[in-house]
Amino acid sequence: MKKDYKLPDLSSARRRNKEKSERVEFSIEDKYLNLGEGKKYHIITHGCQANQRDSETMAGIMEALGYTVSESTDKADVIIINTCAIRQGAEEKVYGEIGALKRQKMKNPDLVIAVGGCMTQEENTVKNLIEKYRQVDIVFGTHNITSLPELLYGVYESKSRKIEVFSKMGEVIENVPVSRFGKHKAWVNIMYGCDKFCTYCIVPYTRGKERSRRYEDVLFEVEELKNQGYKEICLLGQNVNAYGKDIYDDYDFGKLLNDVAKIGIPRVRFMTSHPWDFNDGMIEAIKNNSNIMPYIHLPLQSGNTDVLKKMNRRYTSEKYMELFDKLKKELPGFAFTTDIIVGFPTESDEAFEDTLKMVDHCQYDNAFTFIFSPREGTPAASMEDHTPKEVKEERLQRLNEKVAYYANLNNQKFKDATVEVLVDGISKKKDNVYSGYTKENKLVNFTGDNIEVGEFVMVKITEVMSFSLNGVAIEK
Ligand code: SAH
Ligand code: SF4
Ligand code: F3S
Repeated sequence: MKKDYKLPDLSSARRRNKEKSERVEFSIEDKYLNLGEGKKYHIITHGCQANQRDSETMAGIMEALGYTVSESTDKADVIIINTCAIRQGAEEKVYGEIGALKRQKMKNPDLVIAVGGCMTQEENTVKNLIEKYRQVDIVFGTHNITSLPELLYGVYESKSRKIEVFSKMGEVIENVPVSRFGKHKAWVNIMYGCDKFCTYCIVPYTRGKERSRRYEDVLFEVEELKNQGYKEICLLGQNVNAYGKDIYDDYDFGKLLNDVAKIGIPRVRFMTSHPWDFNDGMIEAIKNNSNIMPYIHLPLQSGNTDVLKKMNRRYTSEKYMELFDKLKKELPGFAFTTDIIVGFPTESDEAFEDTLKMVDHCQYDNAFTFIFSPREGTPAASMEDHTPKEVKEERLQRLNEKVAYYANLNNQKFKDATVEVLVDGISKKKDNVYSGYTKENKLVNFTGDNIEVGEFVMVKITEVMSFSLNGVAIEK
């Protein structure tokens, strides 16, 4: 078969330059507009918030083409799997899923299966999909979402597979349709990509270079969300502190945060702030706007300076502690969470103890903890690693026990308190049990009458657990 595609490659995905990224306006050619008439699509999403938001874009494009959403895979004419490559486990799950769809494809040869997201930016994944997963019709990269109309059209026209994955720095595409999954909470991209190149991480390769959206575009989107009645937004970037640096001399994340908050959506959050370059302008903006929520996610990764250096994290354990203490002092009542990797190559018992000490110092509200997973093509994947798997598992368990201890300790402050909860949903198990989050991003399960999803409810906390709170709604 003639090869009409090019495999992605991680070494060219490493390329970075100082040129400003291009701003491109998206539009759909007329000939694609009725492609989905009478047909249904279903999207399966893995990975982080960036992927969630990308899936909303894919959904928006599908609906612009005339497709309607199907709640399950078995009634869908097009199934899109939006993948994550952050750890081996995430990838295995996706392969299992694609494997399971083989039967459906055999029963219905007209079914179109499309695989997108971070995994498809890896050469090996694309090779695997082409050679071993014949049921897959479309493979599209993170830079190729806006090619979906053309790719689908190609599959219908030629009845052959379409592969399009660009290993490039990427542009900023505006005016792309979106079908948001939530009616009261929304994700807002403020920038794409990552230039930090932490040595364990695949993201800078799969997502291209750090590129900011123009602030006018961000503010316009937030205004629109306000007009549509959204109650909470989360500004998204792999490293939001770097916002604006690639395109502006005098407009940064602190300014954006301030301008976004002034639009007046009741709850504003942001994700993720790297400890490197968390500046005073950001702290001021947070202090000056009561609708910026009292919650900060500040990834630590390791509490040991040598390990941090090998991870290319750009801060020492002392610097992290200094920043953490400053934030804690300047922002009283804030909740703090973190990410930690155990078993990074060369992490000794002593180095791991330093991580535990840092957790004792910071007493996080919660932490997302992971065992190091080598990602092919990243520098850490070829570092010598002598720590046995069992030792890594034991470290993870010890760490998790500590994390749970402090999570519980922090939650004790909420016993008998009255908190504001933005209602997300009704419990699947019990009729009058609802759930939602406090300003500090604490999960609350509570009972109440006449409660609506998307409203703010004051809840009296009656019971405290490590990772959630229970309570009763106060009469309105
Ligand atoms: N941009 C964010 C992180 C996104 S990835 C930041 O820097 O904070 C989310 C988390 O996954 C990371 O913080 C890290 O803890 C974890 N992670 C990333 N690569 C990993 C790997 N190869 N093995 C294990 N955990 C990893
Ligand atoms: Fe990965 Fe580091 Fe970039 Fe976060 S900052 S996405 S961990 S390279
Ligand atoms: Fe996964 Fe890609 Fe996000 S690797 S964590 S989906 S940026």
